[in-house]
Amino acid sequence: MKILVVTGATRGLGLAIARRAAADGYRVIASGRRLSEGLLALQAEYPDHVLFEVLDLADLASVHPFAMRISATYGRPWALVNNAARGTDGVLATLHERDISELLRVNVEAPILLTKYLLRPMLLNRSGRIINISSIIASTGFSGLSVYAASKAALAGFTRSLAREVGKAGITVNTVAPGYMETEMTSGLQGDKLQAIRRRSPLGRLAAPEDVAAAVSYLLSEQAVNVTGTTLTVDAGSTA
Ligand SMILES: NC(=O)c1ccc[n+]([C@@H]2O[C@H](COP(=O)([O-])OP(=O)(O)OC[C@H]3O[C@@H](n4cnc5c(N)ncnc54)[C@H](OP(=O)(O)O)[C@@H]3O)[C@@H](O)[C@H]2O)c1
Repeated sequence: MKILVVTGATRGLGLAIARRAAADGYRVIASGRRLSEGLLALQAEYPDHVLFEVLDLADLASVHPFAMRISATYGRPWALVNNAARGTDGVLATLHERDISELLRVNVEAPILLTKYLLRPMLLNRSGRIINISSIIASTGFSGLSVYAASKAALAGFTRSLAREVGKAGITVNTVAPGYMETEMTSGLQGDKLQAIRRRSPLGRLAAPEDVAAAVSYLLSEQAVNVTGTTLTVDAGSTA
């Protein structure tokens, strides 16, 4: 069974990715800071396919031990989905330095470190998949999300150069850029703002976490063996 590590799999998009991957037959190592009811329910549905491992990405020192533990306990991972992120918003002029550095640590530095350590077993296998969850905000603007946008653009740049670095070893690296979805991250956007985004999109709706999980499922699949270094946008057409 191929082993897939998904960060931030306790809720929202990460949980949808874990659910879809378990249904697709992967052994999913779902990580987050604490086990959630949603993930417990998924584990009950797929007891042999879904396992939980604690990882707080704000604690960079725990990333390497986590990667070692995964390989030692479950065997060499075949794929990694860097999904966990903080969605801290606020105008830059009043954002605390502490919040800026925590966001960059969780959204950029930790996924880069985790990729570095989980790449090693993939290089030994000479096959693997890395998927970085970015956002349409990496290439469009949204007032109050400048630091978040910087973190998401960083991941897209990381994808392209890493794809060049590890392609010869049979490893693909891609970005998935979701548009707005209804999750805890966007709970502050309920009402008018989310309604306006939905209305303005060509399809007149928002993408759901399940739509984005389907894009991840494709990039993990055999059909995507020649897709690397690219961004797959799933946003109901918002950026068209
Ligand atoms: N929602 C949207 O509209 C939207 C749009 C575009 C892109 N995205 C991207 O999609 C991804 C998932 O977002 P979401 O909407 O599902 O967000 P969410 O509901 O807020 O879930 C975030 C996930 O990240 C985890 N996480 C947060 N801080 C962490 C930390 N320090 N260490 C480890 N895990 C941590 C959370 O786990 P805990 O249980 O530990 O808190 C949770 O599982 C993110 O990369 C986000 O940027 C979202």
